[in-house]
Amino acid sequence: MPNHLLGIAELTKEELMAFVENGYHFIEVSERSIKKVPTLRGKTIINFFAEASTRTRASFEIAGKRLSADTINLGGSGTSQSKGETLYDTLQTLQAMNPDIVVLRHSGSGAPHFLARSLPRTSIVNAGDGAHEHPTQALLDCVTLYDHFKREGRSLEGLKIAIVGDILHSRVARSNIYAHGLLGNTVHLVGPPPFVPKEFETAYKGKANVKVFHSIEEGLRGVDVVLVLRMQLERHDESFISSLEEYTRWYFVSRKLLSRIAPGAVVLHPGPINRGVEVETALIDGPQSLVTKQVTHGVAVRMAVLHYLCKTQAKLSNEVGEK
Ligand code: NCD
Repeated sequence: MPNHLLGIAELTKEELMAFVENGYHFIEVSERSIKKVPTLRGKTIINFFAEASTRTRASFEIAGKRLSADTINLGGSGTSQSKGETLYDTLQTLQAMNPDIVVLRHSGSGAPHFLARSLPRTSIVNAGDGAHEHPTQALLDCVTLYDHFKREGRSLEGLKIAIVGDILHSRVARSNIYAHGLLGNTVHLVGPPPFVPKEFETAYKGKANVKVFHSIEEGLRGVDVVLVLRMQLERHDESFISSLEEYTRWYFVSRKLLSRIAPGAVVLHPGPINRGVEVETALIDGPQSLVTKQVTHGVAVRMAVLHYLCKTQAKLSNEVGEK
């Protein structure tokens, strides 16, 4: 097992399932009246978020605290990066304070991978790197589906998942494609051609069973899960779509549409949601939506990730000590 969590692409199916099952078991800790276990007492976790975040940042902080670790939060504009310091120097400075884990969100694709290579004494968790990967989001989505389908006597395998929207710029989509690839599920990528090029079918060959659809009717027909994405407007450096109104006209996910072509499907959204743009408010607030559960399970799965990495470190240092 790795000493970092950089992406789902680096995991085996067994490792993915271990995170999902451990995450599932951690849900219960947050339901107690005293939501704290002593597991990571004496450990230090730095959450370094150089990009905007609400859910991911709050849930990593809560996860660390519920495991009794000492957590500190740093952000882009409040750090020496705004004075011209490089990410490498900032993180090397932080490493000198001996944290056990650094959780990093950064706009640069590959930033956590670079740090994992250059700062070998610290475990790095990727909390979203550019348009590349967002592994803990895919893990929490899997925990949510695991929990949901378990109640129906089904497992995480044999599912048909549709991901709708700006796939090209979405790290959430990429991590979910890898996760469902490991699970052997069929993934429908649905959206306009600039966001969902036909080449995606071959790009993931050998990694995931991916089918591209430019028609929402065809892409969503008969699926078990619809994962709706936000337009990643902050990552569009050219005009990808003529207008958001036009996108909404062709790719809006509504209750009426689902009741016709995928009546049993459950709906996921990583947030933040642009209500009325990519998805109907009544659907997100209705019984098919697992959005609130996703947020709750985000804390649990991040507890599982932090716990696993600290345990691996302890094992590694014992092995080094024995030699
Ligand atoms: C996502 C992200 O930042 O990649 N949000 C999240 O972490 N829950 C998705 C998004 O910003 O659209």
